[in-house]
Formats: sequence, C-alpha cells, structure tokens
Amino acid sequence: MALIVIVNLLMLSSVASLVNSLSVNYYDRTCPNAESAVTDAVKKAVLNDKTVPAALLRMHFHDCFIRGCDGSVLLESGKGNTAEKDGPPNVSLHGFYVIHNAKKAVEAICPGVVSCADILALAARDAVTLSGGPSWNVPKGRKDGRVFKATETRSLPAPTFNLSQLIQSFSQRGLSQQDLVALSGGHTLGFSHCSSFENRIHNFDASHDVDPSLNPSFASKLKNICPAHNKVKGAGSTMDSTSTAFDNSYYKLLVQGKSLFSSDQSLLSSPQTKALVAKFASSKKAFEDAFINSMIKMSSLNGGQEVRLDCRFVR
Ligand code: HEM
Ligand SMILES: *[C@@H]1O[C@H](CO)[C@@H](O)[C@H](O)[C@H]1NC(C)=O
Ligand SMILES: *[C@@H]1O[C@H](CO)[C@@H](O)[C@H](O)[C@H]1NC(C)=O
Repeated sequence: MALIVIVNLLMLSSVASLVNSLSVNYYDRTCPNAESAVTDAVKKAVLNDKTVPAALLRMHFHDCFIRGCDGSVLLESGKGNTAEKDGPPNVSLHGFYVIHNAKKAVEAICPGVVSCADILALAARDAVTLSGGPSWNVPKGRKDGRVFKATETRSLPAPTFNLSQLIQSFSQRGLSQQDLVALSGGHTLGFSHCSSFENRIHNFDASHDVDPSLNPSFASKLKNICPAHNKVKGAGSTMDSTSTAFDNSYYKLLVQGKSLFSSDQSLLSSPQTKALVAKFASSKKAFEDAFINSMIKMSSLNGGQEVRLDCRFVR
C-alpha cells in the first residue's frame, strides 16, 4: 500500500514537471504540417468508418491512464511481453490503423520528430471535432514510452466502479471530480458490448434482478439485446442515442436512468457530481468548455522518453 502511494506521488510529481514542457507551438519549427497530416488521416478513416472517432477517443483515454499519455497503448505484444492493447479491457479498442497511417504520413514529411503519443492526442481531438464537438489547441511535446504491460490495464477504472472508486482512480492521476464528470461525457460516442453492463440487467443484487436505478423500458431493451445465457458475439448497445454525434445527450439520458454503466449512474450519487451532470445536461456549451479543459489536463499526463519511428514497436 505504502509502495503504491509512493509510486503515485512519483508519478504525479513527474507529471507536474512535464505539464509545463508541453506547448501548442511545439512543432512550429520542426514539423509545422504535422497537425494537418494527422487531421487528414483521421478524416479519411472517418469517411469509411463512422466508429473511428469513438475508437480514437477511448484509445487516448486508455493511453493516458496507464503511465501517462506515452503512446504505449499502440505497442504490439512480442518477445514474451503481452502488450496493453491485448490486456483484459481490450474488447473494444480498435482503429489502431488510423494512428499508424497518420504516423506514416507525418514520418514522410518530418522523420523522427513527432511522437506517437502526440499523434494520438491530436487524433482524439480531431475525432471530437469531426463528430460535431468543439475544437481546441492541443499542447504537444509528449514522448513515447517503452513499457507496455497488459497487466497494467487492470488499473483502468471498471464500468462496475462506484463513485468513490472512480474519484480515487481519477485523483491518482491528478484529475478532479469535475474532470471525472466532464470526461465521462466521452460516452456520448461509440458502442459497448453486453459484458460491460450485464451486471445491471441480470442478478444485479440479492433483491433485484435489474438495477432499480435503470429506466424500466430502457432496461428491458438492454435485456432483449443481451439475454442472460444466450450470448451473441459482438452484441451490445450504442453508448447514447446519438452515438456518432459529440453532444450532451449522454447527460440528458443519464438523468433519466438511461446510462449503460454502473460507473455512469454513480455520477448521480453525490450532490456535487449530480449538480455537474445536471449542468452539462442543460447546457451543451457548459459541457464542451468543461470537456476541453479536462481533456487538456488528462492528455498532459506524460511518461515517455523517446520519439518512436513506428508506433507499434519501441526503438
Ligand atoms: C470514468 C471511467 C470510465 C469507465 C469505467 C469507462 C468504461 C468504458 C467501457 C466499459 C466501455 C465499453 C467497452 C466495450 O464493452 O466495448 C467504454 C467505451 C467508451 N469509452 Fe469509456 N470509460 C470511462 C471513461 C472514459 C473516458 C474518460 C473517455 C474519453 C474521454 C471514454 C471514452 C469512451 C468511448 C468513446 C467509448 C466507446 C468506444 C468505441 O465505441 O469503440 N471513456 N468505456
Ligand atoms: C484481447 O485480450 C485477450 C486476452 O485478454 C486476447 O486473447 C485477445 O486476442 C485480445 N484481443 C485483441 C483484439 O487484441
Ligand atoms: C465502493 O466500492 C468499494 C469496493 O467494492 C467499497 O469498499 C465501498 O464501500 C463502496 N463505496 C460506496 C459508497 O458504496
């Protein structure tokens, strides 16, 4: 336990020093066209596949929550090491090819300059913007990491987490309750498999089969998609009713008991977080401003030391 605390303190202090070294102008001299090359690669992928923005946003979140945003989520397993992307919560991580295409395009114009971690941070921002969400300047200068262990994905927050577990997971990364509520709004995009929310619709607890905080008709819809002992491979639900549009409908549905995860629902379990949910449900602008602020915070967690040439392998 003490060791964990020390490791966290070390992590946070190195984070604090690195935050200052990121800058929106970082590649102005060394690779002025890096951003447009990334945006082009993301745009091209989105034209062919509407699930790409959700994939990129979640990939960036997973990257940042394990040893900081160091591109380690992109590394492939090999040489006796099972990579993060092959760890247990990998069921829906996808779209890696988009980052690899973006990296190829960037390497072609300025070889060895732009980190994979920066490319992923830019791609996550582009994913939000291309889905009708806001745009913002991404501070850059992250370095890529060399450590990528599947077992460390266990430290990601789980969809079954309650509010105190979520607050702890975020605060270990220097993120506040406001960051937790705003970043959970990332669940306005994408898709979830049944396994991520089946705890709420079958054998919920000793007295309820279904989580009583779920809207009843929404719950029966989920039960139809995800029957108890009849697993359809790939079955699941969109994250909200407008799963390719970056908007505040996640919060509007959440207050009606129409969220997928226990972790989403738990945001209503304290007055502080509940008030933020209500604020974001009633104002898309308030949500967007908070989301930008918290994304910049989350994506400034860094832990790497090099610029990888191929995002899939350490140098
Ligand atoms: C608060 C803690 C969080 C938990 C417990 C959590 C959990 C999950 C789970 C279980 C899934 C579905 C996986 C599946 O079954 O396929 C998911 C999907 C997703 N999450 Fe989160 N998440 C959290 C925070 C975030 C954050 C901070 C972001 C980004 C800002 C994010 C963005 C997404 C997106 C975009 C998807 C859909 C992915 C896709 O369609 O490919 N999540 N999340
Ligand atoms: C996900 O992880 C499991 C092991 O937990 C592995 O067997 C599977 O191949 C991985 N899936 C992908 C798409 O990497
Ligand atoms: C949250 O979950 C943890 C772990 O299961 C538990 O110890 C704690 O009491 C729970 N907190 C609340 C407020 O339910």
